[in-house]
Amino acid sequence: MRRINLYPKKACDLLSRENSEMLKNEWKNVGRNELCPCGSGRKYKKCCLKKESHAEIDYKRYYKQKYEIDLKAPKEIEKIKECGRLVVAGLDRVASMLALGVTTNEINEMVHEIAEAHGAVCAPLNYRGFPKSVCTSVNEVICHGIPGEYALKDEDIINVDITYILDGYYADASKTFFVGSPSPEAKRIVSVTAASLLAAMEMLAPGNTIGDIGWAIQNYAERNGCSVVREFVGHGLGTSFHEPPQVPHFGRKGQGITLVPGMVFTVEPMINLGRPELFIADDGWTAITRDRKLSAQFEQTFLITEDGYESLTPYDLAPFVG
Ligand code: MF3
Ligand code: CO
Ligand code: CO
Repeated sequence: MRRINLYPKKACDLLSRENSEMLKNEWKNVGRNELCPCGSGRKYKKCCLKKESHAEIDYKRYYKQKYEIDLKAPKEIEKIKECGRLVVAGLDRVASMLALGVTTNEINEMVHEIAEAHGAVCAPLNYRGFPKSVCTSVNEVICHGIPGEYALKDEDIINVDITYILDGYYADASKTFFVGSPSPEAKRIVSVTAASLLAAMEMLAPGNTIGDIGWAIQNYAERNGCSVVREFVGHGLGTSFHEPPQVPHFGRKGQGITLVPGMVFTVEPMINLGRPELFIADDGWTAITRDRKLSAQFEQTFLITEDGYESLTPYDLAPFVG
């Protein structure tokens, strides 16, 4: 992969010709009356619009102005990563406790205890009125399942989605687990969903776009006879739960915001075995497939680096692809 400077010290720290070529998408997105991305403080039409080649872009400032995206500094990235390690440890503990008869409340307690033991906070608890510490989404539940008395049974699949806050920084990841011995349908939806996230990860590099990510997921899922949920998207995060950009799990190649180093966001495809439509249960949270067929999800928090990406909640998806 090509390299670009990670953190320009000031507006006049220029990107190379090659890098400005890489960001040519962004120049197409600039409105005539918007501030010029080069950081001059003048309107685009009075500045670089007139120039033949766009050699300069102060993209840290530009991403904030145009997209409300905060590119993260190395110190912040370390914080998110540390939180991410705890999230992954939480998912591992959940994996080891899953068994027939375990209730989703027991998973909730485990996830909560791990947070307390490490001085972390469970982000879902009281988030917009969400009543529990973790989301547990079983079978036809797409996401935002609320832990309760439900006891896991043979052939269930369950997505456990953990978001912790550690020292003010968020990390967010989820896995879909089998309970007992998986049905053929369960194996298929889990495999397709995990592989769709792997396909998305291949797109995570500077110069590619948000649209490339969605395209990779949609392309993989639909070629394999499954469908992509539209109503929920991946998201930036850092010192809050959901920040720009939105990361749809469907899209077109080359469209949308160009990925640049320092961007931190989740990719969290929700893939359905049947049709993509959903409804929300009376609890106001639980999203369920309208056709009641299975749905699966995998999520990680990613950092765009100079030469590709790094997962800040790393775990191996290969075992889920089978
Ligand atoms: N963890 C979910 C996500 O991936 C958000 C859950 S919001 C909650 O974005 F309120 F349901 F917890
Ligand atoms: Co998320
Ligand atoms: Co999540």
